[in-house]
Amino acid sequence: MLRRKENSVILQNGYSLPLFGLGTWNLKGKECTEIVEDALVMGYKLIDTAHAYENHEAVGEALAAIPRERVFLTSKLFIDKVDNKQVKRDVQKSCDLALKELDVDYLDLFLIHWPDRAKPLTEILAAMHELSKAGKVRSVGVSNFTIHHLQDLLNDGVVPHVNQVEFHPYLYQKELWDFCEKHEIALQAYRPLGKGELLKERVFEEIAEVYDKTPAQVILRWLIQKGISTIAKASSREHLEENLEAFSFILSPSEMRKLDSLGKEVRYCDTDWADFEY
Ligand SMILES: NC(=O)c1ccc[n+]([C@@H]2O[C@H](COP(=O)([O-])OP(=O)(O)OC[C@H]3O[C@@H](n4cnc5c(N)ncnc54)[C@H](OP(=O)(O)O)[C@@H]3O)[C@@H](O)[C@H]2O)c1
Repeated sequence: MLRRKENSVILQNGYSLPLFGLGTWNLKGKECTEIVEDALVMGYKLIDTAHAYENHEAVGEALAAIPRERVFLTSKLFIDKVDNKQVKRDVQKSCDLALKELDVDYLDLFLIHWPDRAKPLTEILAAMHELSKAGKVRSVGVSNFTIHHLQDLLNDGVVPHVNQVEFHPYLYQKELWDFCEKHEIALQAYRPLGKGELLKERVFEEIAEVYDKTPAQVILRWLIQKGISTIAKASSREHLEENLEAFSFILSPSEMRKLDSLGKEVRYCDTDWADFEY
């Protein structure tokens, strides 16, 4: 079981993963820089990006205004660029490129973006662990991994610090979360608002009305209150501020149970590279 402290999850290597941050998928160029700048001014402590988002430079421009240690920065390896025969070289190249584009000395977290089983996943994660010895990353992990993918890594003796997956009240992956906690892997919830689609659902509105809050705040609160780190994307100051306010109230045990038991299996991220049935 991982410890929680001061709105963070304490990873198995002792580093703190903030409970809430900004996702930057689909944010590019000047808009991306301005939103990340606004978020940092407001007190956001975690920024999530990836090679695949093609916005490293834009994120980096915003980061330049603050001391590096004030933000937890995540990026993700583009696994298609890893040659099976040159794993160490390509993982290092991918990390070096991310550092250069973001104009930083280290990443707080570097993730395998998705589990392509045609690639040597254990060897790739092991090469990422090597980067931490060189000070280029602090923690390493995976994304979109099922229990089965994680078990394969554990069987090989290579453990990720984090598994970033889609997770919200309409995709309550309790079994995966329990497995992660048991093995001290922090589950991080992406797409918490279902790309905004979840906000139209009456069940969240009903609870929001009780507290004079919004559906987005209720969903983010549900995650934070469970001690699950999450990243929501926003492209306006209003949404950034609103989402940060998820820390300002507490859901009752019965409301938490109600959200736990919605019993839906809705994925808003189901793409060509998905391997969710494994
Ligand atoms: N590892 C992976 O494979 C993976 C996959 C998907 C996503 N992610 C990460 O997770 C992050 C979040 O997921 P996401 O961007 O797909 O979707 P999301 O955060 O679930 O939803 C973002 C959408 O919700 C809207 N929104 C945000 N706050 C709102 C509010 N308070 N009220 C009303 N609408 C609001 C946004 O609108 P505006 O833009 O208009 O503010 C946007 O349309 C990504 O940005 C990315 O960093 C990772």
